[in-house]
Amino acid sequence: MPKYIRIDEVKDYVGESVEIRGWLYNKRSSGKLHFLQVRDGSQTIQCVMFKGNFDEDTFKTADLLSQESSVSIVGNVKEDKRSPIGFEIDVTGFRVICQAQEYPISLKEHGVDFLLNNRHLWLRSKRPHAIMMIRHHFIRAVHDYFHDHGFIHVDAPILTANACEGTTTLFSTEYFGETAYLSQSGQLYNEPTCQAFGKVYCYGPTFRAEKSKTRRHLMEFWMVEPEAAFMEHAENMDLAEDFLEFVVQRIVERCEDHLATLERDIDKLRAVKKPFPRITYDEAVKIIREKGGRIEDDDDFGAEHETLVSESYDKPVIIEKYPTKVKAFYMKRDPENPARVLGMDVIAPDGYGEIIGGGQREDDIDILLKSIDDHGLPREAFSWYLDVRKYGSVPHAGFGLGIERTLMWLCGVHHLRETIPFPRLMGRLSP
Ligand code: 4AD
Ligand code: MG
Repeated sequence: MPKYIRIDEVKDYVGESVEIRGWLYNKRSSGKLHFLQVRDGSQTIQCVMFKGNFDEDTFKTADLLSQESSVSIVGNVKEDKRSPIGFEIDVTGFRVICQAQEYPISLKEHGVDFLLNNRHLWLRSKRPHAIMMIRHHFIRAVHDYFHDHGFIHVDAPILTANACEGTTTLFSTEYFGETAYLSQSGQLYNEPTCQAFGKVYCYGPTFRAEKSKTRRHLMEFWMVEPEAAFMEHAENMDLAEDFLEFVVQRIVERCEDHLATLERDIDKLRAVKKPFPRITYDEAVKIIREKGGRIEDDDDFGAEHETLVSESYDKPVIIEKYPTKVKAFYMKRDPENPARVLGMDVIAPDGYGEIIGGGQREDDIDILLKSIDDHGLPREAFSWYLDVRKYGSVPHAGFGLGIERTLMWLCGVHHLRETIPFPRLMGRLSP
């Protein structure tokens, strides 16, 4: 029996007989020959059937094979310069596992609503496949980076009693007579765990009931959040910069073919090397106004403001020291100006928007209590969180990087919905 291999292994089997198993992606025939494009999740390969090698029935079965039928193919691996992957298979044996019903997604263009309704099938197509492969390598790079830098992976809960990022975007659910909220961020849990482990990170799904339809917002997205005891604002920016350079260069190294499928300009990603420009909020406001953008004093940035700032740079830009009033309750005040916080956002180039948000945390319990009151948050819900300041409070900082926002930029896709296998959008909970 020939060995069953995955298509991405064919280069090691040139001249040998192998079996591949997969789905018919496309097909073309010319009397004596069938050219079957077969994909198995690892790659797509052309399998050539020559009429003379088969009895009439088998050859005819192949001719009637419908798109996405599952098949087992036995044949000899040949090098072929014209093939996009450099190889093809000269078929000697052919078996239909299941003839597919008429497949709804043809190789022509479809509207995005139709594709999203069929997301469970759409993932088989070339473009979503390339994006998900990049996602896979990206997540792997995230874990490698923090592991290699001494951060311990400590998971944060999904069901929580607290709001981390404001009360307007909470999803709630009944919890045995109490109200539970789906986590908006693991940060409030990272702060105590960094006192237990020194340097930690959590990686998980986070939820925001953003009642708006934009290309940058999902209801459910994934975030990686590092947090370190004794790390202050400047080092936090250094960490964000070093981490981002690492993960982007990893994608450049390992995903060249997938980036090419997406027609992403790889040179732009190659240029993402330290140092990144760092400007203050006040400097960013100046840039925005010089470029004709309108913003009130001390207002938060919207997507259009971020785009104006990012246009000035070809690398991610770090914006620090935002107005205290636009940021979350836990941010540490700038000792030089209490109207500003030691927070930072990283804005991706080319208008892809904010990919990282973070900062140094308020470590003074009295200032923190006042901030909780000022934000109208219930003190009781934060009693455990305040313990971080009661038992050996130390300076500490961290950030959160949105996986889909970052992928949107890396892949060069216009809408966040393409960067997650099953997007949760306003008005879309299925499939
Ligand atoms: O800036 P955010 O709200 O920061 C936090 O949640 C902090 N507690 C993180 C921390 O310091 N540990 O969110 C962080 C990142 C954003 O920069 C963005 O990339 C992403 O999460 N993000 C979203 N991504 C997709 N859809 C949404 N609705 C998002 N909201 C935030
Ligand atoms: Mg933010």
